[in-house]
Amino acid sequence: MNENALTSTGMASYRADFPSLQRVLNGSPLAFFDGPAGTQMPRQVIGAISDYYLTCNANTHGQFVTAIESDRMLEETREELSAFLGAPGGRTISFGANMTTLNFSLSRAVGRSLEPGDEVVITQLDHEANRGPWLSLQDQGIVVREAAVRKDATLDYEDFEKKVNGRTKLVAMGLASNAFGTVNDVAAIRKITSRYGSLLMVDAVHYAPHFPIDVQRMDVDLLLCSAYKFYGPHVGILYARKGLLDRLETDRLRTQSQHAPYKIETGTLNHAAIAGVKAAVEYIEALGKGADRRSRIVNGMARLGVHERMLGTMLYRGLKSISRVTVHGQSFDVPLRAPTVSFTVEGKTASEVSGHLARRGICTWDGHFYAIRPMEVLGLLEGGGVTRAGISLYTTVEEVTRLLNEVQMLAA
Ligand SMILES: Cc1ncc(COP(=O)(O)O)c(C=O)c1O
Repeated sequence: MNENALTSTGMASYRADFPSLQRVLNGSPLAFFDGPAGTQMPRQVIGAISDYYLTCNANTHGQFVTAIESDRMLEETREELSAFLGAPGGRTISFGANMTTLNFSLSRAVGRSLEPGDEVVITQLDHEANRGPWLSLQDQGIVVREAAVRKDATLDYEDFEKKVNGRTKLVAMGLASNAFGTVNDVAAIRKITSRYGSLLMVDAVHYAPHFPIDVQRMDVDLLLCSAYKFYGPHVGILYARKGLLDRLETDRLRTQSQHAPYKIETGTLNHAAIAGVKAAVEYIEALGKGADRRSRIVNGMARLGVHERMLGTMLYRGLKSISRVTVHGQSFDVPLRAPTVSFTVEGKTASEVSGHLARRGICTWDGHFYAIRPMEVLGLLEGGGVTRAGISLYTTVEEVTRLLNEVQMLAA
């Protein structure tokens, strides 16, 4: 096995942390390229979840030790996530079941402050989880405009600018496309929204596993991400600018806290999973070096980014060189590109391609991955969508070579 690349990016030793990498199918180790739909979990995260059940299983706000420890763990996780997102403190971080559920809660809350004729802008590139909740506001007379996607799966910024105006109350956009790996220019959109005082809400679900985030530098009002995409369990995470959640009319019981960050958290949270989220961010932090938590996280993400970009480029170029294979989306010549590569093979459906790979122990997704709108617009939906392969921390050169060889055989 050629471990050179992994060794040079320093990621090889971390594979031992992931128990599921030991799984074998028909004599071959499973190769997980399904990271964009959820990564594997290191034993540190699995351990934190089971430790919570073993030692501390309680509800919040009690006087006894396990309730007190549960409260403390929740607050510590908010602090850890605040460092992960470059936020000004744990009070800006809320939890939910997943990104989609939190975004529906947000859209209902924002909707209560809007009047018929007010406008919201979404994009054609986004996952449906950042479109459906905002589209549902049309039922109350809100105008929802859609910024166009271009052929290369990038946003059409001229069209975007035309869609935002004095009536725009909120713009909802993704930071990175889960289907094509495009990284969007959030700074360009912030400039436009600032002109009109519109809120800027970003879906960082596909961006957070690959790039360090700084919500204050990005100057976004709301950001959502999901821990199961960055080596954690299924928990949705919301960053809301200080004071913003307090102004929104969220769904809530009169018995629950009426203040941020709690006021959007309905019912009992998944405490064990949240203990796992803390461990997941600590895991990323331990990849990096630095004097404080934030610098270690940023450095850890940067190291991960070097590894992912190298293997993403290898995967992209390898697929591109196979005849009868079309790779969709941008190349890796651009400065920022998520290591998520989607392709089709002439004469085969995406389902046939992923099925072939699955029988050989190579895990890829096929279809639209809920990014159904860009698939429709780019004409990829009718043929069953695309096959998607994502690079994660534990991906090796050997695995990429295995995938490329299989696709080559299938395409021949
Ligand atoms: C870009 C993007 N946004 C939103 C979501 C939805 O996240 P969740 O599963 O946490 O609701 C996903 C999930 O795949 C995604 O990739």
